[in-house]
Amino acid sequence: MRPVTIVAMLAVVATTAAQCARTSASGRDEHRVTAERGRYLVESIGCGDCHTPKKMGANGPEPDTTRLLSGHPEGEQVPPPPPPKAPWIAGTTWDMTAWSGPWGVSYAANLTPDQNSGIGIWTEQMFVDAIRTGKHMGISRPILPPMPWQALRSLNDEDLKSIFAYLKSLPGVSNHVPDPIQPTATH
Ligand code: HEC
Repeated sequence: MRPVTIVAMLAVVATTAAQCARTSASGRDEHRVTAERGRYLVESIGCGDCHTPKKMGANGPEPDTTRLLSGHPEGEQVPPPPPPKAPWIAGTTWDMTAWSGPWGVSYAANLTPDQNSGIGIWTEQMFVDAIRTGKHMGISRPILPPMPWQALRSLNDEDLKSIFAYLKSLPGVSNHVPDPIQPTATH
């Protein structure tokens, strides 16, 4: 066998080994867009802390998996929040789906693919743009705290597209989340 052929073969082996190392780090292929990878990211980042309604369990609030990632429940009336008073400037409801602070009141969005109340009509590009720019649907009003888009925008394209693929694979839950309330209207 000619030496050049052996070198070429070694290069193939090295490349394959490197790909295996990348894959095994998280147990997943990090260079492909898959809903499975999106699930891994959503669960490890904890989107559901704010976006999944809770039910009361033996040890306190726990995720209501029948309404996974469907946002602040539309029927849940919450009274106006107490005024922010330093050093306690932000507050949240028992299920962490409604938040108050200097920005007013914000409600965690419905991330399920329901056509009317969720992200059913969103394109992949709208989702990526929303997270990257901090603008509602990627083009309109600023996305309010505590949605951590400033941190999430560091995710690469494959990560964000995988998250979108996972969200689109969820059962759609019809739940119209209220619009945010301006600070002047709350105090
Ligand atoms: C600390 C709470 C919190 C966490 C964690 C969180 N979000 Fe949010 N998110 C919110 C709130 C509150 C809103 C609504 C903000 C508003 O109305 O401006 C929101 C809004 C959104 C929106 C709607 C943006 C738009 O254009 O209207 C998307 C999409 C979203 N979140 C995706 C995610 C994903 C995906 C994750 C996890 C990778 C995540 N969020 C983690 C609180 C959170």
